Amino acid sequence: MTESRELYVAVGGKVIPWQVPIRPLAPTEVRVKVHSVAVNPIDWKTVENNLADGAGQGNDFSGVVIAVGTDVKDYKQGDTVAGAVAGGDVDNPENGSFTNILTVDRKYLFKLPHSLSKSTHSWHISDGIPVTFEQAASVGLAIDTTAVAFGRSKPEKGEWALIYGVTTSTGFVAAQYARNLGYSVIGVSAPFPEIIDVLGIESLDRNDPEWPEKAKKLAGDKITFALDCVTKDPLDKIFSTLTKEQPAVLASLDPGASLPEGHESANPKVTLKPVLYFNLFQKVKKLGSLALPENPEVYNNSEAYFDIINTQLFKNQIRTLPITIVHGLDKLEEAFDLSKKARGTKIVVNLKI
Ligand SMILES: NC(=O)c1ccc[n+]([C@@H]2O[C@H](COP(=O)([O-])OP(=O)(O)OC[C@H]3O[C@@H](n4cnc5c(N)ncnc54)[C@H](OP(=O)(O)O)[C@@H]3O)[C@@H](O)[C@H]2O)c1
Repeated sequence: MTESRELYVAVGGKVIPWQVPIRPLAPTEVRVKVHSVAVNPIDWKTVENNLADGAGQGNDFSGVVIAVGTDVKDYKQGDTVAGAVAGGDVDNPENGSFTNILTVDRKYLFKLPHSLSKSTHSWHISDGIPVTFEQAASVGLAIDTTAVAFGRSKPEKGEWALIYGVTTSTGFVAAQYARNLGYSVIGVSAPFPEIIDVLGIESLDRNDPEWPEKAKKLAGDKITFALDCVTKDPLDKIFSTLTKEQPAVLASLDPGASLPEGHESANPKVTLKPVLYFNLFQKVKKLGSLALPENPEVYNNSEAYFDIINTQLFKNQIRTLPITIVHGLDKLEEAFDLSKKARGTKIVVNLKI
């Protein structure tokens, strides 16, 4: 008898369990008994807008290795692992992390320097490297997306990065990542001192109408990189903070964003960079009728990108947001609702084991 696993797929605006046969492992794959998965806005946006119906959902995960492919030498049964995959894949509907048994290519796993433990008290910012299953599951999509956003940026001394929406889960990671790259960092957000103070960066209140001028002044007009993690506000204010003295990048987590009208005459030095997490995993990402950017540089060099991600995460000790735990994949829709309201916390679903 073939063994099966349970995968949550999108159907008509909901997620429902689907029994999928467990297929044999390819040589470079690892099979994981999933402990925790995190919820990201892309999950509920995909499901509720019917963007990938019939496909397994979910990206972030952590768990324990139960089998490895013949070419896998760096992981063995019993190892704890974490990482992220590409859910909502209509061409490969058996992908997605919202499952009890996950098959993943070893290159997408984080190179954890230690074993993960179960969380005892999650509602705090991690002291450094993620050490619990929940923390490790909470950071994959955020750090992978951040790596796509910054690409191979190597700032010169004195350059500044501005993170708009620094208390979102991506913004929180991106601020640390940017600082590790060598940028001085300004975070913009609604006031949230418990989250912002641990970052050790300059911060400005998003509700202050003068925040763009203040940002320019703080940075001595040296903001060369800005990342929009909110994706709901017009880009004109963020755009206005970028320097005219040298090339500058405005990266947006809305892959369909465009620069403000008149941008070429206002500041010809600025280039728009649409960011898409899935560029690390798929040459072409299909999501309903959305036109999504391709990024061959990222896709063709994904191994190198994961080296950078692992260095950032573990050597540089990226801290993770406090976790809010939901119990059981059957509560995914409850977790989606929590994620829609979440501020300064990551929603993580622990599987019932
Ligand atoms: N393109 C990609 O590959 C990619 C990857 C990751 C994320 N994203 C997108 O990026 C956005 C952020 O994702 P996330 O997972 O980082 O977000 P998150 O932690 O789930 O937070 C998102 C929401 O938190 C609220 N929020 C928290 N702090 C805020 C602040 N300082 N300023 C404004 N709003 C704030 C906003 O909702 P309220 O306005 O309701 O308060 C915001 O939409 C989402 O739209 C997501 O879909 C895209």
